[in-house]
Amino acid sequence: MTTTNRFAHIPRERLPALLQGMPKAELHIHIEGSLEPELIFKLAQRNGVSLGYPSVEALRAAYAFTDLQSFLDIYYAGASVLLKEADFHDMAWAYLTKAAAENVRHAEIFFDPQTHTARGVPMETVIKGLTSATSKARRELGMSAELILCFLRHLSEDEALETLEQALPYREHFIGVGLDSSERGHPPEKFERAFSRARELGLHLVAHAGEEGPPEYIWNALDVLKVERIDHGVRCLEDPELVARLVRDEVPLTVCPLSNQKLCVFPDLRDHNLGKLLEAGLKAMVNSDDPAYFGGYLNQNFTDTFGALGLGAGQAWQLARNSFEAAFLDTPARERYLAELDAYFEGFQ
Ligand code: HPA
Ligand code: ZN
Repeated sequence: MTTTNRFAHIPRERLPALLQGMPKAELHIHIEGSLEPELIFKLAQRNGVSLGYPSVEALRAAYAFTDLQSFLDIYYAGASVLLKEADFHDMAWAYLTKAAAENVRHAEIFFDPQTHTARGVPMETVIKGLTSATSKARRELGMSAELILCFLRHLSEDEALETLEQALPYREHFIGVGLDSSERGHPPEKFERAFSRARELGLHLVAHAGEEGPPEYIWNALDVLKVERIDHGVRCLEDPELVARLVRDEVPLTVCPLSNQKLCVFPDLRDHNLGKLLEAGLKAMVNSDDPAYFGGYLNQNFTDTFGALGLGAGQAWQLARNSFEAAFLDTPARERYLAELDAYFEGFQ
């Protein structure tokens, strides 16, 4: 592959530094999944919420997952400490400062309003708290950050439609909708009307598919929901016709290697198919998914995966380029970021 050879002069021992400083976009991060145990405990205390765990260490020790559902049970319990606008702000600001330090130049951040509105937290509280952090990031960290509202797929389509209507007064504060939570048994087509409504509203459309669910879920996310990106999508390699379709239409896949390892989608990081996805010509990039739960933020995902799979500088450039190409950016911003990426690689010693 030409991209692999182009940066062959960059020695392997310089890869961690290259990956750390490389400009990149993160397109698959659940903000509730960035809630570190220390912040969970601080917010629990601030809000008088009692947690089922006696200490930060006990909570962290419970992070041993066998599949997606075993993670989601703990993830929703952690989110129960979020009550006030300041809580949502503090959570998002903690993520954004970490992301900026890793040279994430642009982030598209998922949030799960139903996890909060179901506990009586108003939609306004959630969106205002998150928006105050993304606005501050633009001003003070020099990075761009946008929000994507996710529907919980274990709930009904009527509830998704209701959630979308509740969010409409804040329409200018989010750029798209997504679909997350328990994948198996909740296929994309369950949300056809909700995505059609979102499309009418001019929102961008993405959906988790092919993480635990079969390739058929990816087909239906594309053909029924008409999504522009697939979140995860790693199971696409089981279906060569699907791969051909994804390559032909340049559909981005927001891959999350440490998440896949921790949720046993692959038995070991060395078994991850990221290298194969790139070889197939798919527009994949690296993301952290739920960094507080899966062992690291974006750079940890890059360095661990590159180490496990023996990937090099050419793939690093391709993955970063894919992240900017797949982002919902306007053309001038995208070109600025792509130029920044090329300048970084050309000047790297
Ligand atoms: N998959 C599905 N739903 C989620 C995830 C995930 O990896 N993280 C948070 N909600
Ligand atoms: Zn996810």
